[in-house]
Amino acid sequence: MTDSTKFFLPEDRLPKAWYNLAADLPEPLAPPLHPGTGQPLGPDDLAPLFPMGVIAQEVSLERWIDIPEPVREVLRLWRPSPLVRARRLEKALDTPAKIYFKYEGVSPAGSHKPNTAVAQAFYNKEEGVRRLTTETGAGQWGSSLAFAGSLFGLEVEVYMVRVSYEQKPYRRALMETYGATCIPSPSPNTAAGRAILAEDPDSNGSLGIAISEAVELALQRDDTHYALGSVLNHVCLHQTVIGQEAMAQMEMAGDQPDVVIGCVGGGSNFAGLAFPYMAEKLKGAKVRCIGVEPTSCPTLTKGPCAYDYGDTGQLTPLVRMHTLGAHFMPPGSHAGGLRYHGMAPMVSHALNLGLMEARAYQQTECFAAAVAFARQEGIVPAPESSHAVKAAIDEAMRCKQEGKAETILFNLSGHGHFDMQAYTSYFAGQLTDPAFDPAALERALADLPKVAGA
Ligand SMILES: Cc1ncc(COP(=O)(O)O)c(C=O)c1O
Repeated sequence: MTDSTKFFLPEDRLPKAWYNLAADLPEPLAPPLHPGTGQPLGPDDLAPLFPMGVIAQEVSLERWIDIPEPVREVLRLWRPSPLVRARRLEKALDTPAKIYFKYEGVSPAGSHKPNTAVAQAFYNKEEGVRRLTTETGAGQWGSSLAFAGSLFGLEVEVYMVRVSYEQKPYRRALMETYGATCIPSPSPNTAAGRAILAEDPDSNGSLGIAISEAVELALQRDDTHYALGSVLNHVCLHQTVIGQEAMAQMEMAGDQPDVVIGCVGGGSNFAGLAFPYMAEKLKGAKVRCIGVEPTSCPTLTKGPCAYDYGDTGQLTPLVRMHTLGAHFMPPGSHAGGLRYHGMAPMVSHALNLGLMEARAYQQTECFAAAVAFARQEGIVPAPESSHAVKAAIDEAMRCKQEGKAETILFNLSGHGHFDMQAYTSYFAGQLTDPAFDPAALERALADLPKVAGA
């Protein structure tokens, strides 16, 4: 035990390999299926969208996958990221629990997203791709890919969910600073966007729609690929630098987490922190992993596990995941990065195998937790990350009630410096907690694709 507050690893302790949970799962993941034939996908089916380096990782069962040196070189701009003990928060809560957070907001884009953006840009560049299309919710992923594209000399075109485009104008400016183009989605540029606009010219947009637009454009040009900021196995894989570093830093602190927490949108920051701990859990370690989502988009807590499309326009492969249905339209909350109808197949599988728990919170209680955290620890959390903050505080209060000195580790996946309008609305009492509409879920689930034998 030390009385330090921050735990830093030197640059040469940046992990040399990514950890692949698929190698250790007691039951294999269900294969992704071709959207046309319903048959398991082969690498060639994915080649129009992704580089082979990434496709190989998507299906790999190797436990460790080397991180290419040019990727490590870029990650060293901000990694290893700090682990911080939230001593002032502990004191303010008067809890016997110890609270640590891994802080991913130190990256250039302000979140964990560049960990995979850099890797994806590298593999695309290696394969001779010139242009990448993508979607973004709150803008964290779009600005991360824009940043990575600028380092590897790739053009980047980002379709940003309209409600976030309007809420976060400076995210767009950041993407443009890195040389990318940012377009509000749904847009008239694609058939998928035009179809939505014809039905609802004022559509808020959703990640599912923005993905359709980006995928449609990538399929049209040989020099263009698509990049996804979450959900897929390779994205979760790239994020495991977070958990590996955290393990080494917890060792420096002379402590071990009893509870590991991350917010879940598509599942990648949670996976990045928790998967290395799940590997220990599979070997018998006692650690609880908790994924936290918004009650307005409760994929893990209310969605069944089924084969579904990753996008609204039904262009992507079918993957088996917890889903609210590809046509589910979440209300326009401020945690834009958590407004996704599906969940990473790996995270979905981990939940089904009992390796993790899931819970959901309303947005106003998350903002209250984020403000309490900021007033003790100084960092203003991204609205997405505030879900993890809320769960960490609730766990610390449970420890207080039970008189237990447990150790809680959570992922502070990003800062909220571009999200201050959300805080302003919160302070003005303008944020509501949209009621979850079970009928809307039922309607969206009625459209789930019928997959034989699934
Ligand atoms: C700061 C932050 N945290 C979390 C998320 C959720 O994504 P994921 O579940 O893939 O980590 C996002 C997505 O945009 C984000 O910007």
